[in-house]
Amino acid sequence: MNESRPSAMSAFWMPFTNNRDFKANPRLLVSAEGMYYKDVDGNRILDGTAGLWCVPCGHAQPRITQAVSEMVGQLDFAPTFQMGHPAAFELAEQLMEYTGHKFGHVFYTNSGSEAVDTALKMALAYHRARGEGGRTRLIGRERGYHGVGFGGLSVGGIGNNRKSFGPLLPGVDHLPHTHNLLENAFSRGEPDFGVELADELERLVTLHDASTIAAVIIEPVSGSTGVLVPPKGYLKRLREICDKHGILLIFDEVITGFGRLTTPFASDYFGVEPDMMTTAKGITNGVVPMGAVFSKRFIHDAFMDAPAGIELFHGYTYSGHPLACAAGLATLQVFREEGVIENASAQQAYFEDALHSLRGLPHVIDLRSIGLVAGIELEPIAGKPGARAFAAFKQAFADGILIRVTGDIIALSPPLILDKQHIDELFGKLATILKNLD
Ligand SMILES: Cc1ncc(COP(=O)(O)O)c(C=O)c1O
Repeated sequence: MNESRPSAMSAFWMPFTNNRDFKANPRLLVSAEGMYYKDVDGNRILDGTAGLWCVPCGHAQPRITQAVSEMVGQLDFAPTFQMGHPAAFELAEQLMEYTGHKFGHVFYTNSGSEAVDTALKMALAYHRARGEGGRTRLIGRERGYHGVGFGGLSVGGIGNNRKSFGPLLPGVDHLPHTHNLLENAFSRGEPDFGVELADELERLVTLHDASTIAAVIIEPVSGSTGVLVPPKGYLKRLREICDKHGILLIFDEVITGFGRLTTPFASDYFGVEPDMMTTAKGITNGVVPMGAVFSKRFIHDAFMDAPAGIELFHGYTYSGHPLACAAGLATLQVFREEGVIENASAQQAYFEDALHSLRGLPHVIDLRSIGLVAGIELEPIAGKPGARAFAAFKQAFADGILIRVTGDIIALSPPLILDKQHIDELFGKLATILKNLD
């Protein structure tokens, strides 16, 4: 294993990174186990973010490591166009079971971005297959994050991600975001204020006419934009409005799927069922890239009435890659047999209390939490948005905790295998950092 510094760092153009700043002062991870990374200098770093929301079962999970190692020796690659391999079918069946058979079918991708673009294309093609080809409009939400493909960017609502890339997809509109510090600051779980923001969908229906709208896509809990928890009743109301107008509802569960809210999916937590669900990350415990679109039976079945032939002209070379399927099967086994979600539930109240103990510390203007996700919003430095939280991120790494920042919001989403000592370490170090932050 190479645990030394790379000989040069200029060639790797790093994603979503301040490359110049990083390369002047790099943070290099060389190994990981359980709740901890190790950096190139041998320091242990507590993983407060499950990598990038990816590792619910903890790092180097032995069953997953073994399953992937075995598969790479057995079947390194197999196409899934007009042929298949057993693990892809087995994983799909088990995923359906994991959703309690609320969905009937799963379509594999390699990432969350691809899952989102796949779901959007499926929504358009579904309506067309049923003779409603005029339903081409897609509705996203301000501050939503749905990855970086042109579809996901178009329905997404983060200005910096969109502004450099031209007009994006036509015929897209956005619901307003639900963030409201005035009414909802320091909420635990779903905030009280804002259910009526779902009615904005009725306004968009009036504006565009339902016959032009294919789907609404939202994150049940927005993650990348800084942990925005939906107001009480909001998702249910969106569901009702979609039903009333024949609009498909897609939940982007790329970060909320696989236990993050102490239930298998956010749809279980909120008791609201979407028509499609996009997932990635935790589906393989982050070990091999994989995404997946879960669809209700009626969506899939609409394609099966077509004349014989390929029903959906869409797919990726690596859809259902054997290594990803092996990792996915082992991940589900770990969820079933090792009490991952049960542990998340058991730790949730302690995690939430630890978060809210930061109230009153310098610069903290909001603390919000749901399941094992927490957001800490800091007062920005005047004229330098994001600078304060980025300074906290750098200090945290130096002090041995990995946190994630977006703008001036710190997001925490640790692996679900954590215990109270990890929570104490994470919030203890964070409190010290916040006290000393400029
Ligand atoms: C809700 C959501 N959708 C989509 C994505 C994109 O996933 P990927 O980076 O795997 O393309 C992310 C990534 O964080 C996400 O949080």
